[in-house]
Amino acid sequence: MSTIEPINDLPTPLEPWRGIILFFLHTYPTSNIVWLLRTRRQEQSKLEMMASQRQRPDIGLRVNIIHQPEDIIQAFDCVCEAFGRQVQDGIWTAMNPGWDTPQGRAYGAERMVARWRHKTNNKDGLPNTIFLKATLPCPQFEDRRIIVGFGIWVQASSVEGHGDPPTEDLTNSMDLDALYPDDEPERRYLCQVVSSLHRRRTEVIKQKATAMPPAVMILDMCAVDPAHQRKGIARELVRWGIDEAQRRGNLEAITEASSMGRHVYGQMGFQADGSEIEYVVDDEFASRPKPPNLFMRTHENVV
Ligand SMILES: CC(C)(COP(=O)(O)OP(=O)(O)OC[C@H]1O[C@@H](n2cnc3c(N)ncnc32)[C@H](O)[C@@H]1OP(=O)(O)O)[C@@H](O)C(=O)NCCC(=O)NCCS
Repeated sequence: MSTIEPINDLPTPLEPWRGIILFFLHTYPTSNIVWLLRTRRQEQSKLEMMASQRQRPDIGLRVNIIHQPEDIIQAFDCVCEAFGRQVQDGIWTAMNPGWDTPQGRAYGAERMVARWRHKTNNKDGLPNTIFLKATLPCPQFEDRRIIVGFGIWVQASSVEGHGDPPTEDLTNSMDLDALYPDDEPERRYLCQVVSSLHRRRTEVIKQKATAMPPAVMILDMCAVDPAHQRKGIARELVRWGIDEAQRRGNLEAITEASSMGRHVYGQMGFQADGSEIEYVVDDEFASRPKPPNLFMRTHENVV
């Protein structure tokens, strides 16, 4: 016998169906209903994805791995326009002070290039961090292409040789002493928000230590120039990583999804794991605006 409580507060439009709904709820176990709802949601996502793909004209989009620093610098402009100007993401702007000035932007791009140069390889010789560019034909010059989107995928693992290990020392890994040499509160703030943002990611990486292979693929960054959004560009950056995760041994893909990004990821096989990420910070930082993020993963309940 089902333990579901009778529903006494059904909204008025459902009133004529009350008897049928109550019969259904008492007849089927909750797990079946959850399964039915989930299957329906997945089917709906697939249909939405197919519908939007059908309607989209060929715009000459290409997604490629970045092999030269000039591309990182150009791609960084997309990131500034998306995370800085459009979203005004509080964590990203704190990590990229002066992003809206030529000097600040150049410094941010330089830091990104340094990250690109220092990428490591896994035991199979594959890069643990992959920087992707999405390009479109340049409207002015036929033989050129412009970078309109940027993605970073990271293979991570707590087992040596299977990916980059979870970050223990954030001050060091984010090079905060160089970023804010005379500003201890700002360094502390960034450590606290990034640690909160990545709490679940770190847990999952550690849980995967016994999986085969013991790794995940993290979508660490996805940004599309606002002038070129809603053309299916993020979808292709995400698709590349999911396919690569498959090629690397059916790795699970995980990410922290912004309020914009989650619409795309939800259509690409990611599902929410938990509710909105909670930022645990000192009282002095409580009023600072923090971006909504949701931890999402592709192999729900599989660890
Ligand atoms: C999120 C972001 C990367 C999406 O890029 P995009 O190239 O515009 O996304 P796509 O065109 O591939 O979107 C595919 C589908 O996802 C959904 N989608 C994308 N952005 C959406 C939005 N802002 N609101 C609602 N649905 C959205 C739509 O269904 C869309 O298909 P449609 O345009 O045919 O309806 C881009 O908006 C962005 O850079 N935002 C700012 C930075 C950010 O939040 N990045 C994500 C970090 S996790």
